[in-house]
Amino acid sequence: MKKIIISFMLLVFTGFAYGQLNNLVVDVSNSKAKIQPTMYGIFFEDINFAADGGLYAEMIKNRGFEFEEPMMGWLQPNSNRHSMNKNSGIASIIEEQSSTSNKNICRVTINNDTGYVLLNEGFRGMGIKKNALYNLSLQAVEQSGHIRKINFSFVNGDGKVLGKTSVIINGKDWKIYTAQLTATDTEAKARLKITFEGTGVIDLDMISLFPEDTWMGRKNGLRKDLVQLLYNLEPGFLRFPGGCIVEGRTLAKRYQWKKTVGPVEERTVLVNRWNTEFKHRLTPDYFQGFGLGFFEYFQLAEDLGAEPLPILSCGMACQFNTGELVPLDQLDPYVQDALDLIEFANGPIDSRWGKVRSDMGHPEPFNMKYIGIGNEQWGPEYIKRHKIFEKAIGEKYTDITIVATVGPFPDGEHFDYAMNELTKLNAEIVDEHYYRPPEWFRENSTRYDSYDRTGPKIFAGEYAAQSVGIASPDNKNNWECALSEAAFMTGLERNADLVVMTSYAPLFANADAWQWTPDLIWFNNLSSYGTANYYVQKMYSTHRGTDLLSISFEDGKPVTGQNGLYSSAVKDSDSGELFIKLINTSGKVQQVSIELKNQKVTDKADLLKLTSENLSEVNSFDNPKKISPIENQIEVENNHIKTAIDPYTFLILKIGLKQ
Ligand code: AHR
Repeated sequence: MKKIIISFMLLVFTGFAYGQLNNLVVDVSNSKAKIQPTMYGIFFEDINFAADGGLYAEMIKNRGFEFEEPMMGWLQPNSNRHSMNKNSGIASIIEEQSSTSNKNICRVTINNDTGYVLLNEGFRGMGIKKNALYNLSLQAVEQSGHIRKINFSFVNGDGKVLGKTSVIINGKDWKIYTAQLTATDTEAKARLKITFEGTGVIDLDMISLFPEDTWMGRKNGLRKDLVQLLYNLEPGFLRFPGGCIVEGRTLAKRYQWKKTVGPVEERTVLVNRWNTEFKHRLTPDYFQGFGLGFFEYFQLAEDLGAEPLPILSCGMACQFNTGELVPLDQLDPYVQDALDLIEFANGPIDSRWGKVRSDMGHPEPFNMKYIGIGNEQWGPEYIKRHKIFEKAIGEKYTDITIVATVGPFPDGEHFDYAMNELTKLNAEIVDEHYYRPPEWFRENSTRYDSYDRTGPKIFAGEYAAQSVGIASPDNKNNWECALSEAAFMTGLERNADLVVMTSYAPLFANADAWQWTPDLIWFNNLSSYGTANYYVQKMYSTHRGTDLLSISFEDGKPVTGQNGLYSSAVKDSDSGELFIKLINTSGKVQQVSIELKNQKVTDKADLLKLTSENLSEVNSFDNPKKISPIENQIEVENNHIKTAIDPYTFLILKIGLKQ
């Protein structure tokens, strides 16, 4: 990025003419605490079509015909009773009793050549890009007659063909057929059209279509643009698979990791708990196919250089729904799931679950260090269950850190009870959640300054400023929310001795199929963008440093919102740099003079600036980088930096340390 030298004199005649002067001091030589590499991470939940229809690049919805309505996502336009060719053919579902996970088969009967069509609508359509390659696969077996060939084509809303291929059917056994399509045009809402040549009966299953161009070129892998956005965050950890999705509305519908590993066709499809959770945002076609399962999450964490942090059910269904409880004397299978997961991630290849991992292509362990027990549980029943998990995991695996929950709210009766009990139990890390208005974030940057240092460490596991109200569909990822989060995060950083993990939530939203807003990253079938909140996270995460420093006013008071100014400072001992974060939430220019004490620094500083004059401003598909960092350079005179911070601005100063 082009760097511009802004002279001190220029600032004198512009910013310095207005606003308050803030004299700040940084003691560069005094490390107050180590910043954990896990400090800034990501929270993944399959909400808002984040997995199927999102990160997992499968383009066929209901590829295995296993949704509760097995033909959901599939259309037979010529088979309705008004159609001219209604007798051309028909598809029906056959249930195979031998399989519990992939029991449904689609049986297609072709009566004549008058044009039977089977269409898949994709996830709100299929995004195809001109000249890009797409890999098709399906399982098929002929039952009777002879269907010689199956044709596949991309079609747009007018039925125009945008790329085609076919497979020749041969043999009376189940076979996997593969082919490739090249898209002849770019289209956000394509569908896959399937036609048949010959007459007879044929069974189909696992009809699947992926772009060739996936993250790291993995066959049938993840959407490249979305993983790239995650990669650019340089996350310290990846929490998965949620969120409330872990708990399920009922225990039967909870997330069970063992059903998400092994061959994809053997993974058991489950309804997604967010499908009809919000009456105002119904998505009844929301299921979990688990192509993105626990192996893929661990692999993603590895790709991102992030610590994996799986969260498991503790035997309590979501307390906002049924709150169903497993009796304590029946908790064993849940505890065993946790123990087996550690073996799956870390165990030798001759162990039962280590072998499953190895057979999936990863003989080396994933080196998992953390496990979360329960998501947003509250009350005495959670504490009882936590004790049981803690004992069992602690006895077998002394090197695994358990993350406990203090419930869905950052204060109140449930929070106080859980924090108190978990402190007595010497819990290692507790997961706090706050979905609050932007002003809450501005007012709570001192939240952790007075926390008990002998209690558990803090994982700020889910947080996001809500512009309207929690779970309101009118919430926006606007600049006021992002800026307020930036201000609050100075408090996370200033307390890095206590706060060891933090993550914004939720992570992803499909613009055509979301349930919850705000979200860090928005995407549709063709493109994606980071919100202003994304760039706040990125600026912190990519300037996390290794050591916490103090930055204060001359009287020693930390910078926690005086004049709308917030600040924190860290140094990176590896790169020899100092990073100072400065946030001006006020509508006035703030003049800042910073004295850097006890270590010589370079005479230039890079300045990264995220700003908007308009607190309601948002990034969008049309203007994805409207609010994104701009880089400049300023002078450092004799270990002093003077700068003016525009209204509503988040700045990071990067300064080199001299030996
Ligand atoms: O992030 C959305 C939801 O908010 C999560 O699933 C849950 O943990 C929280 O209530």
